Amino acid sequence: MRTIAHISDLHFGTEDPVVAENLVTALGRDRPSLVVISGDLTQRARGAQFAAARDYLCRLPVPQVVVPGNHDVPLYDVTRRFLSPLGRYGRYISEVLNPVFEDEELFVAGLNTARSLTWKNGRISCEQIDTLRGVLARAGERFKIVVTHHPFIPPPVSEGEAAIDLVGRAVEALDVLDHFKVDLLLAGHLHHGYAGDTRTHYPAAKHSIIAAQAGTAISRRRRHEPNAYNWITIADQHLSIEVRVWDGAQFKPKQTTHYTLRGEEWMVVNPEAERTVAAPPAKTPPDA
Ligand SMILES: [Fe+2]
Ligand SMILES: [Fe+2]
Repeated sequence: MRTIAHISDLHFGTEDPVVAENLVTALGRDRPSLVVISGDLTQRARGAQFAAARDYLCRLPVPQVVVPGNHDVPLYDVTRRFLSPLGRYGRYISEVLNPVFEDEELFVAGLNTARSLTWKNGRISCEQIDTLRGVLARAGERFKIVVTHHPFIPPPVSEGEAAIDLVGRAVEALDVLDHFKVDLLLAGHLHHGYAGDTRTHYPAAKHSIIAAQAGTAISRRRRHEPNAYNWITIADQHLSIEVRVWDGAQFKPKQTTHYTLRGEEWMVVNPEAERTVAAPPAKTPPDA
């Protein structure tokens, strides 16, 4: 069994210190197998903001998989934005922009989708897709996760996909993810938590891949949603995604979606219903 704390969009520079401290305490108490941070560590990619983000990550459990977000590329410092867009990210957080984590059960590949030219939008390059093909080839039967900042699918209810910053070159990347039977995609960016099967938007895919978005964990840049993060549990053929939401005093579980692998399909299951089905039948009265 593995547990993952999926946190996103820290936005240091706009962080809520009370929420931030509570998250350190919660993760220190619950000790996930892995912490995934899906981008936007800073608000404006300033040195002091990166230093604060680095110090914060040092207080969270390890191992960690971290990818940058569009806010980790300078917006107004145009020289730095085009000459060294992720220079500070490399100096303070990690030189590795496409990190890989693996153990006996998990195989996790991170992809940097932040770009200078399309500052808000994100993209996967052809070179990244080629590299990903080689990386995933050695994942075998382990549970496979790909982490990006920009999402692959829009929220269930949106004003239209054109208004949502989905990751660029998603269709080409999905071909590779589908081929290697990736199980789960983790992303952030929209400050909106939701999960769904990528086939709702990529019907050509042969396998179900679950995409889970995390809201902003600690930033005050909330978009009509409280701070939240995802607590993910992977065990045998089961996957659960529990959304833990800040209620003003602590993070509390709000809703959990359970999936089970049936053949090559990740199906949503209701554990209560399964228990009901699995329960022994009631004895039939003799006069029935
Ligand atoms: Fe963000
Ligand atoms: Fe973002």
